[in-house]
Amino acid sequence: ELSDLENADKWSQYINGVFIPKRFLEIQDRVSNWEVREDDVWIVSFPKTGTTWTQEMVWLILNDLDYKAAEQNLLKRSPQLEASALVRYPWLNLMWTWIPQPITDSLKYVKNQKSPVCIKTHLPWNLLPKEIQKKIKKPKIIYISRNPKDTCISYYHFSRLIKEFDGSLEEFCNKFLAGNVNFAPFWNHVLPFWKRRNDSNILFLKFEELKQDLPGAIRKTATFLGKDVSADQVDQLAKHLSFESMKINPAVNYDWLVKLSNLYKPDESNAFMRQGKVGGFKDALTPEMIIKFDEWTEECIKGTGLTYP
Ligand code: A3P
Repeated sequence: ELSDLENADKWSQYINGVFIPKRFLEIQDRVSNWEVREDDVWIVSFPKTGTTWTQEMVWLILNDLDYKAAEQNLLKRSPQLEASALVRYPWLNLMWTWIPQPITDSLKYVKNQKSPVCIKTHLPWNLLPKEIQKKIKKPKIIYISRNPKDTCISYYHFSRLIKEFDGSLEEFCNKFLAGNVNFAPFWNHVLPFWKRRNDSNILFLKFEELKQDLPGAIRKTATFLGKDVSADQVDQLAKHLSFESMKINPAVNYDWLVKLSNLYKPDESNAFMRQGKVGGFKDALTPEMIIKFDEWTEECIKGTGLTYP
């Protein structure tokens, strides 16, 4: 099976213009016709943009900062709607008791949770349930985004970690730019939410703003969710959400995934909570690749007003 890793495209194809695992076809109709509950909160993102960070923040705010309950794995507290479609090897389902991520039927798992559920999804706007797209239902949606260069590097390391990619960083960057990584094209993901950022049910956040002013981002998110948080609570939550603290928190740090991946092929350098930095790309990309990214970005976001510090 490992030889399949060289040929990641075998697993994914374009569906409605989105490069996505083929298994999504098995659940596409169920997602599209999903009965949206307005109490649920959706955390939507392109992979590697700070999803986990946002999930932990939102879950704790919604659940009155219940740190005891937050010891349960985040993947169960904030399940990923399309998770079943991401699983390449069906035998992983047999490991259900060991893997904290509900993968056997992630849609059913989400449906059986009591509202408000923090639903995680990497699906872009045009693959979300029809009721959301047509604004028949308006649940709160928090979109987290990150500058594409850091996102791409994080995605490269993650893809190697889960043994879905075995090539060089340069090769991965070219795939990213060409829209050949899952949930790409990148800007087609980000821009529809950026365009709707002033809708009353949408909050558009940036990884970089969480990094720069986490207490500010916590207050902004709490206000959006209609929750009061005191100054002390904000301080405590900011400590809980620091990179250092999340890195050693087994409920959020995906160590189980690292261990599982290492069963295939050990790799000392991997960790889900890798660097948590802004601008790490400067040490990783060649000047030529930075120019390539910047020209592509300029062309794709010209006139939209979107910028990253
Ligand atoms: P790096 O690989 O650049 O370190 P996602 O949750 O969307 O998969 O995003 C993962 C990225 O968010 C990783 O980036 C990870 O380290 C970073 N991250 C997660 N929690 C963080 C935190 N508390 N502070 C800063 N970065 C965090």
